Amino acid sequence: MSAPTAGPRFTPPPYPYDRLAELSRLAAVHGDDAVDLSIGTPCDPPPDAVVSVLGSSGAERGYPTATGSPAMRQAAAAWVERRFEVAVDPAHVAACVGTKELVATAAWLLRLGRPHLDTVLCPAVAYPTYAMGAQLAGCRVVGVPPAPDGSLDLAAVAADDSRRALLLWVNTPANPTGALDDLGAAAAWGRARGVPVFSDECYAEFTWTGPPRTIVAHGTDGVVAVHSLSKRSNLAGARVGCYLGDPALVAELAELRRHVGLMVPGPVQAAAVVAWDDDAHVDRQRERYRRRLGRLAGALASAGVDAAMPGGGFYLWVPVPADWEGADGWDLARALARGAGVVASPGDLYGEPVASHVRVAAVAPDERIEALARRLERLGAAGLAGARHGGDDR
Ligand SMILES: Cc1ncc(COP(=O)(O)O)c(C=O)c1O
Repeated sequence: MSAPTAGPRFTPPPYPYDRLAELSRLAAVHGDDAVDLSIGTPCDPPPDAVVSVLGSSGAERGYPTATGSPAMRQAAAAWVERRFEVAVDPAHVAACVGTKELVATAAWLLRLGRPHLDTVLCPAVAYPTYAMGAQLAGCRVVGVPPAPDGSLDLAAVAADDSRRALLLWVNTPANPTGALDDLGAAAAWGRARGVPVFSDECYAEFTWTGPPRTIVAHGTDGVVAVHSLSKRSNLAGARVGCYLGDPALVAELAELRRHVGLMVPGPVQAAAVVAWDDDAHVDRQRERYRRRLGRLAGALASAGVDAAMPGGGFYLWVPVPADWEGADGWDLARALARGAGVVASPGDLYGEPVASHVRVAAVAPDERIEALARRLERLGAAGLAGARHGGDDR
């Protein structure tokens, strides 16, 4: 019997953060002072009450419900109502195992019922998992460019691309740019074309200019809001989030996801209830991020790098200094690693065709941010520019 012929092997792109090993080596020259601000991983503790429920809920023995326990869905709906002043029926809220898996699997699952649609629209400069989700679904990705104010320029989407679109991803506050989008305009755009709009709102409570935004404030028809406790409550290690909105879309995904076995562990669901029930810890976290962003932006300015405060999120999106002729985001990232011992992420990790920015995440404890800020201030603009030329240390 002859073996079936193998098809082409699917090769995923290099994992974005694996590309930063070179920068970590450069920063390591600073020994214990080196600080990694590349990955947006929380460093602050979650509330004690949340952690203690993980060990005492008694929910570990039986299988959890994939859609989420009634208490968890109710807590998430009540949080949306408190924070965004939008009434949501808990029946139209469902659990996800952190939001990355939902971002990566939504296109695949939606396409099962819409095989003729082969395009995923997402911001051109974005969290890389939107594009990965498209690839896993066998779809092409079409990047939507930003308008000058940072919102998505949906008018730039070609008619053929919107006809073929399985879904549109929006993300506000945006990773990596910190830009705030007009979610009402995105919802209207999708409805006018029959394209579901998925709104990744995992940084919603870290909105610095104006109130937090959610797409469901503009109605639930054709839209799904995606939320995470990873950033809000420093629970990235527990893996829990939720999605809510259009009843038919939520039900379709929830039904398919049950079959796949995408379940938030019971103790984590119990902890999520406590986390969503409390806003005080998030208000404290907001102040930490605001302070760190401000300190980092000021120190980078002393080193000749213009880092504006973002509209939201906990990243600085830092352009390469205008007078660094011929330099790109990797050159700036190398200079920051060599000169100040900080690892930051060059913009091509987020889809910039040529990196012209680096992303700096305000995710180290205050004392480490302070020590880094002082190193940057000591270095100054001339020192940082000088650190561009450290020889070929790749
Ligand atoms: C824009 C965006 N969406 C989703 C995620 C995934 O977060 P989690 O899977 O921890 O909920 C991240 C994580 O960095 C993110 O930046």
